[in-house]
Amino acid sequence: MPDPVDIFGLPLAGADPVSDDDLLAAYPWPEARAWVRAMMVTTLDGAAAGPDGLSGSVSSRADQRVFNTVRRDADAVLIGAGTLRAERYTPMRAKDADTERRASAGQRPAPIIAVCSGSLDLPWELPVWHESTCQPMVLTARGADPERLATAREHADVVVLDQVTPQAIIAALTERGLPRIVCEGGPGLLRNLVEAGLVDEADITVSPVFAGTEHSPSTKALPQVTSFHLAHVLYGEQTLMLRYLAEGEGR
Ligand SMILES: NC(=O)c1ccc[n+]([C@@H]2O[C@H](COP(=O)([O-])OP(=O)(O)OC[C@H]3O[C@@H](n4cnc5c(N)ncnc54)[C@H](OP(=O)(O)O)[C@@H]3O)[C@@H](O)[C@H]2O)c1
Repeated sequence: MPDPVDIFGLPLAGADPVSDDDLLAAYPWPEARAWVRAMMVTTLDGAAAGPDGLSGSVSSRADQRVFNTVRRDADAVLIGAGTLRAERYTPMRAKDADTERRASAGQRPAPIIAVCSGSLDLPWELPVWHESTCQPMVLTARGADPERLATAREHADVVVLDQVTPQAIIAALTERGLPRIVCEGGPGLLRNLVEAGLVDEADITVSPVFAGTEHSPSTKALPQVTSFHLAHVLYGEQTLMLRYLAEGEGR
């Protein structure tokens, strides 16, 4: 019989609540290199979206607080086209509270939304394209439809890659001075980044709800399971906010 594994209980009451500054400090960015931080919410039954097909319906105020905090010091918010089509992102604007800190770190005033899309079939009517503080970026592939490419160029800073591979996406962002990357999904893009070994950190929220998985995209199996180790557990509003680091990451 192997030795039983140690299991620990968490105090679920009695601790002091964390401040916004504590929360920001709990999600540090390394100075020396690019860092890809994936942020996703999952339900108790493993759904990535609720009955309305959106992640917001399985999120909570606690999840949103962490989500918004983690974005504050990011250079880029990276999403797949499927997420933009479903979630219809709103403009990302600079916040007064972050202006000085971002400027002194040499960052742009607000994170840039970066959307990966081969098809360029994107919701161009969204205000996110023209009302964000920094112009959004679209990463696409050589061979994209010329008409759609022209439309994309009216709305975004378009980066044309040989192929929209995970390696090319992350290299394109870091070469443009955007090494602090929050990838907000969806599951398809995240799966491919994990397969490429490019996810340094997985910040996963477990929402205390069941939703059914009908509206959650399924992803192709990875060649092998990819392990992460637990860096912290936060909780609030019956919700767990887990911070996992890739094997070998010391932070
Ligand atoms: N639970 C959560 O936290 C969470 C977070 C985000 C999204 N969601 C939900 O997840 C769903 C969308 O997720 P999804 O997995 O279907 O889509 P996704 O990962 O957001 O987007 C996939 C699309 O990204 C583009 N793409 C370009 N390069 C890629 C690459 N190397 N790897 C993967 N994709 C690449 C392709 O766009 P083209 O088709 O344009 O070529 C592809 O179809 C929505 O229902 C959304 O509400 C949940």
